[in-house]
Amino acid sequence: MTMSSTLLNIAHRGAKGEAPENTLAAFRLGLEQGCDAIELDIHLSKDGQLIVIHDATLDRTTDKTGRVNDLTVEEIRQADAGRWFHESFAGERVPLLEEVFDLVPPHIMINVEIKDSYGRRTEPALVELMRNKDRVGQVVVSSFDHKSLQYLKLLEPETRMGLLYDVNLGRHSALVSSLGAPVYSLHPNFKRISKEDVRDAVAQGLQVFPYTINREEDMMLAIQYGVSGIITDYPGRLKALLCPT
Ligand code: G3P
Ligand code: CA
Repeated sequence: MTMSSTLLNIAHRGAKGEAPENTLAAFRLGLEQGCDAIELDIHLSKDGQLIVIHDATLDRTTDKTGRVNDLTVEEIRQADAGRWFHESFAGERVPLLEEVFDLVPPHIMINVEIKDSYGRRTEPALVELMRNKDRVGQVVVSSFDHKSLQYLKLLEPETRMGLLYDVNLGRHSALVSSLGAPVYSLHPNFKRISKEDVRDAVAQGLQVFPYTINREEDMMLAIQYGVSGIITDYPGRLKALLCPT
């Protein structure tokens, strides 16, 4: 099989399979394992800060409970976001997006997924942070909420939009046209892609980053399809496949 040297190894919520998701420890591990990009999820705190967490609540991934958008940063920072995964990660905190921007070198792409825009306050905060940290054009912002992406593009036209969806990849043309603005990448569910659809999307100049591919045989299949990148909980496993020693 021909291995693409340009295929992006995208660490899903960091190296989620081996570290507590969406923590600095998980992002560090992904970087150590040789990922090319990091995927993460954001919510807004009560006091308007961008918080890196997948769920709308702290319940599943920390030792505290409550909705992120009902809590201040100070309250969220009291939660332990590592011990639930393994004792060795005790003391990990729920990060601010700003901290991840500070941690991750600029040559590593960051894929920020907007999980909930809470009355459209998330997008202006994200644009402001990307500008302050000089990350516009390096970050890919994705969301299942395509109206959120449209709003973001209005606020900052240079934003790279990543279209997340859970319908067949081949449906992307209709989705892209309905957005009415250029899309950078497609983020389909891996279970819903075909070789033909990947080929067509790539021929149209779109990056194709399917999620979430963890088994080696599925990684190989996606590579054969010609995807532009793979979103995986195991960036070390993908790295070993792409660059066998
Ligand atoms: O961005 C791809 C993937 O992360 C979307 O699903 O639930 O893992 O955020 P989820
Ligand atoms: Ca995500």
